[in-house]
Amino acid sequence: MEFGIKIGTPEKQRGACAVIGIFESRKLSDSAKVLDTVTQGYIKNILASGDMDGKANTSLLLHNVPDTLFKRVLLIGLGKEQEFKEKTFLSALGTTLNALQKTAVTDATLFLSDFPIKDKTNAWKVNQTVIAAISSGYRFDQLKSKPDNNQSSLRKLIVCIDNRTELAACEAALQQSIAIAHGMNLAKDLGNLAPNICTPTYLAKQAKDLAKSHKLKASVLEEKDMEKLGMGSLLAVARGSEQPAKLIVLEYHGAAKKENPVVLVGKGVTFDTGGISLKPAAEMDEMKFDMSGAGSVLGTLQAVAEMKLPINVVGIIPATENMPGGKATKPGDVVTSLSGQTIEILNTDAEGRLILCDALTYAERYNPKVVIDIATLTGACVIALGNFTTGLMSNDDKLAQELLAAGEQAADRAWQLPLWDEYQDLLRSNFADIANIGGRAAGTITAACFLSRFTKKYRWAHLDIAGTAWKSGKDKGSTGRPVPLLTQFLISQAKATS
Ligand code: BES
Ligand code: MN
Ligand code: ZN
Repeated sequence: MEFGIKIGTPEKQRGACAVIGIFESRKLSDSAKVLDTVTQGYIKNILASGDMDGKANTSLLLHNVPDTLFKRVLLIGLGKEQEFKEKTFLSALGTTLNALQKTAVTDATLFLSDFPIKDKTNAWKVNQTVIAAISSGYRFDQLKSKPDNNQSSLRKLIVCIDNRTELAACEAALQQSIAIAHGMNLAKDLGNLAPNICTPTYLAKQAKDLAKSHKLKASVLEEKDMEKLGMGSLLAVARGSEQPAKLIVLEYHGAAKKENPVVLVGKGVTFDTGGISLKPAAEMDEMKFDMSGAGSVLGTLQAVAEMKLPINVVGIIPATENMPGGKATKPGDVVTSLSGQTIEILNTDAEGRLILCDALTYAERYNPKVVIDIATLTGACVIALGNFTTGLMSNDDKLAQELLAAGEQAADRAWQLPLWDEYQDLLRSNFADIANIGGRAAGTITAACFLSRFTKKYRWAHLDIAGTAWKSGKDKGSTGRPVPLLTQFLISQAKATS
């Protein structure tokens, strides 16, 4: 899809379709007023007919509107003007793109002044518009014998702003959001791929391909390398599988060598059966998304490289299956992690933390400025926060605030849960330094407490994306989150240091 930013109002533009906002009770938006004047009241007349009253999530397509250079005019209901806010803007974008997709429209023009949101700049609106447009065009049909026949004909989206002062900011936002949306598409593809295709070996190959196309450096540790290093915890998860585990490292250098990198660690369990602590059969297919943390690291690195951000970023992906093979780890097994701490594995289904802990210790060698791990870690997080909000826990309050702000800015929000010492006691083991589960209560927090035992040497935050990385149900699929949050965080970091 192509994008452009213009300065102007609807009477001076031409194209296949103008998108014009109408507030509830037939109240005209800025661009509707302009169009109504040049068409001698045509818009007001249509509204008076009663076919559209401006309620949120409604639309009306008009053809042959006189005295305009647009072939069509799409009226979009925006709801009550005084209640217009971020959420209504995002759903109006959804309604617009849905309506456009049902037509043969090839290009559409949007007027940002129609969408009055307090505290949001035009650059922010450009960002959200571009991401919504690219996301709405996303299809995953590479595993179907024939491509789905529901491709939209929309090829080009023009966004109009009403003043020149914000043009540069909007153009920068445009480039950034295209990179973010492409990064999300990569994360979605990886999450949606079948688990017999998207194996640890496949993820390693993806990382190498990304390195080639985007000037990154990729390296992959094999199981024998991990054995030499002493990654007993990661290898304990891999033991039940026929697929070899990989530790994938991707490095992006956009700043001076001496600049410490932000390290992103993504959980890459390409299929989670639970291992010997086997999961129930219902919806087990969804556990192919258990590599969404890894997918978001690859997507974010691609976006960062595409934007050429002046910052150093390292991505570390521990990748493995969690299978109940004959050599699989058993409940009660005690293993020694790379850090030297011993772990009693009481539940083999709490495998994410077992692979992350070794990757987090490995991260120390990059002298990180901060480390952020991203993982579909606990079902408890879905219970606590649902599918809207990523769980955030950190050993550094400033870092937590920065991530929360990035999520807010990117409309990809997180919420902080406490990591207080009281919770640490729940991980006590009779037979090793630490147990890998803490019981049913506060499952998201005890998982993070486990990780915190391996992150004492640097500023660290943990994102539990169990609820946000994918949608279940009829439209099940990967969401590409939290690529927007992570990329926005890195954009802000790059600004702060340059
Ligand atoms: N990958 C799952 C977490 C998960 C569950 C993500 C449901 C999305 C939806 C993780 O490996 C897991 O199985 N966690 C267990 C931990 C428990 C055994 C302490 C869980 O949440 O049940
Ligand atoms: Mn599990
Ligand atoms: Zn898992």
